Amino acid sequence: MIDRFQALWRPLLDIGRAPGGGYARHGWNDADLACREWFAERAAERGMTLDQDRNGNLWAWWGEPGPDAVVTGSHLDSVPNGGAYDGPLGVVSGFLAADALRDRGVRPARPVAVTAFCEEEGARFGVACLGSRLLTGVLHPNRARALTDPDGVTLAAAMRGAGADPDALGRDEDTLSRIGVFVELHIEQGRALTHLDAPVGLASTIWPHGRWRFDFTGEANHAGTTRLADRRDPMLAFARTVLAARTAAGETGGLATVGRVAVEPNGTNAIPSRVRAWLDARAADGATLDRLVAAVAAEADEAAREDGTGVEVVAESLSPVVQFGAALRDRLAGVLGPVPVLATGAGHDAGILSGFVPTAMLFVRNPTGVSHAPAEHAPDEDCAAGVAALATVLEELACR
Ligand code: GLV
Ligand code: MN
Ligand code: MN
Repeated sequence: MIDRFQALWRPLLDIGRAPGGGYARHGWNDADLACREWFAERAAERGMTLDQDRNGNLWAWWGEPGPDAVVTGSHLDSVPNGGAYDGPLGVVSGFLAADALRDRGVRPARPVAVTAFCEEEGARFGVACLGSRLLTGVLHPNRARALTDPDGVTLAAAMRGAGADPDALGRDEDTLSRIGVFVELHIEQGRALTHLDAPVGLASTIWPHGRWRFDFTGEANHAGTTRLADRRDPMLAFARTVLAARTAAGETGGLATVGRVAVEPNGTNAIPSRVRAWLDARAADGATLDRLVAAVAAEADEAAREDGTGVEVVAESLSPVVQFGAALRDRLAGVLGPVPVLATGAGHDAGILSGFVPTAMLFVRNPTGVSHAPAEHAPDEDCAAGVAALATVLEELACR
């Protein structure tokens, strides 16, 4: 299995990798299109039927498409300068698990599909799990079409440029009704499995999380001639907000990160007119998350008022807590043997789908725990163990 894993995995590593080693695969960019081509080729060489749904998600069908299908997969896009495993490991493992079943002569009683959801990281258009949110109707297509990337290109324009039809976006009853159960395999984004000495685990919950955009506004002016008393510098309230996020996270036991900021005009010798920053916040429950974000927003307001600047806070995406169903998880644990069950702070398409269909997740050990960075890594042996576990799970679900 290790040989097979390497044979499918390695060619994918060359797609969308920057010279520094990280990936820039973002919804509908050239690297994303190359990943889509890779997916189509892998489906074709297996005789699987390829389908791109209305929202740009890809499907490779073993057997007639739906209904009541057993679906596995993940996503092929990355965060900026992302790692190789977050997403693609689940797609590669899906193809390999289907191969393993076919090699064993398994004849599924239900259709089986491998999927790759579009723009899961939301790195280009700002909304995480874009493809699965659109598929399920959690995100309105009008809002999606108008989303812009950092260069001001709308999702609609990017789709048109790639030959896809943005007018077709929206809840896709046909595709959704085909999914009987969804299992996403994913690299672990922490070190719990390493500490537990286990290559594979199952998911219990996903922390509620979201993204908030803070627009700080002030007045552009000369860095060398504007007296401190005359300045309306939005960078100051921004700085206090970053510190407030750290404090609020510490006080609530949550997590808060400002990982993206855009400054206008972004000149060394100019006081900025605007600082736009994005807060990613997560917590163990919704009430705690609300408290955390409210504390950060209150500090931003107060800081802006004191400085004579302005701030506006916009919630860009929200993902409520996810509890994966215990019945399905217990059934999978029953065939996998004793495996650790883990909660995670990371978002996944499985979290969106869990509101609509029975859903489970498998995690594969990540010895350093690093993720969303080029150092993200899982050993080939553990990836092979993940494929074997996924094959066992698919056989259980598709044949019994
Ligand atoms: C996606 O990986 C996220 O948790 O933001
Ligand atoms: Mn991710
Ligand atoms: Mn992911």
